[in-house]
Amino acid sequence: MSETIDRNLALELARVTEAAALTSARWMGRGDKEAADQAAVDAMRLVLGSVGMDGIVVIGEGAKDEAPMLYIGERVGIGTDPKVDIAVDPVEGTRLVAMGMPNAISVVALADRGTMFSCEDIAYMEKIAVGSEAAGSIDLSASPTENLTRIAAAKEMKVQDLTVVALDRPRHEELVREIRAAGARIKFIPDGDVAGAMMATMPGTGIDVLMGIGGAPEAVIAAAALSCLGGEIQTRLWVRNETEAKAVREKSIDTSRIFTGKDLVSGNNVFFSATGITDGELLQGVHFSKEGATTQTVVMRSRSGTVRRIDARHSLTKLNAISAIRYDGSGDTVR
Ligand code: FBP
Repeated sequence: MSETIDRNLALELARVTEAAALTSARWMGRGDKEAADQAAVDAMRLVLGSVGMDGIVVIGEGAKDEAPMLYIGERVGIGTDPKVDIAVDPVEGTRLVAMGMPNAISVVALADRGTMFSCEDIAYMEKIAVGSEAAGSIDLSASPTENLTRIAAAKEMKVQDLTVVALDRPRHEELVREIRAAGARIKFIPDGDVAGAMMATMPGTGIDVLMGIGGAPEAVIAAAALSCLGGEIQTRLWVRNETEAKAVREKSIDTSRIFTGKDLVSGNNVFFSATGITDGELLQGVHFSKEGATTQTVVMRSRSGTVRRIDARHSLTKLNAISAIRYDGSGDTVR
C-alpha cells in the first residue's frame, strides 16, 4: 500500500462511521434496536461503496442468507487496489441505542487482505484486554486472581485499586465472584465490549482491564483497535452448545488455543474508525441542533500509531441535498 492510499483510507473511514452514527442516532431511545441497526447498515454500506479499495467483509452482519447487506463475503468499495479485509459493526450496542444508554458506537476496521480472523461457527470468545502498561503481563489460561495480581504489579498498583470492565451477564457469575474476592472493583456494562476493550486501553478512562465472555466478531474488532492503540488482548473460543461443539470438532479447531491480537488481526497495516452514537466515556454521541448535528470520531492507524479525534459539525440540510442518505430523519435511508 502506498503512503497516499494509507492516508486516504484512514480518514475516509471516519466518513463511513459518521454516516452510520448520524442515521442510527435518530433511533436513540425509541426502543427499536433493529431499526437503529438497519439505518446504520444502510448508511455505512452506501459510504463504504465510495471508498477507493477492493474490500471483502470478513466481520459483518452475518451469513449472506441472514443478512442482505454487509454480509460476510460481500465486496465493498469501488473495486480498485488496495485489496483489504473489512470488519464492520454499524452499531456496536444496538440495545444501547434503543434504550438511549451510554457507549454505543459505530465501528469499521480495515486491514490487508487475508489478515483478519474469521470464525463463523462460534458466536463467543473469552477475552482479557489491557493497556500498554500491563501488556505482557496477562495470561488468559491463568485465573482472574492471578491476572489481577500481575496487572497490579505491572502498573505498580494494588489489586484493590484496579477496575475491571465486564459485560453484565449471568454467565459471568463465577468471574464476578472471583474478581470481588481478589478485591478489585467492577464496572458492569450492559452491552458493548469493543468500547470496553478500548476503555481498558485508553488513558484517562479509569478502567484497567476488560474481562469476560463476549461476541467473537467483537473480539476481532477490539484486536484491530488495540493494534493501533497498543496494549494486549488475548481470547479463546467459548463453545456454548452442541451445534458449536460439533462444528469445531468437524473443523478440528482447538478450543483451548489462546488467540493473541496478532492471531485475530495480523500485519501492521490496520485502520480503525469509531464514531459515538450515544454519549459515553470514550466518545461523545451524536447531538442534534437547529444547525444540524455534531459527531465525535476516533480514527487510528497501526503502522504510524497515530490516534486522531475528529470533532465534526454536519449541516444535515446540505448533506441531504448531495447524498442518497436521509440525514434529517425524514424517512428510511434511500438505497
Ligand atoms: P450488538 O450490538 O450486536 O447487540 O452487540 C452488543 C454486544 O454487547 C457486544 O458488545 C458483545 O460482544 C455481545 O453483544 C455480547 O453478546 P450477548 O449480548 O449475547 O451476551
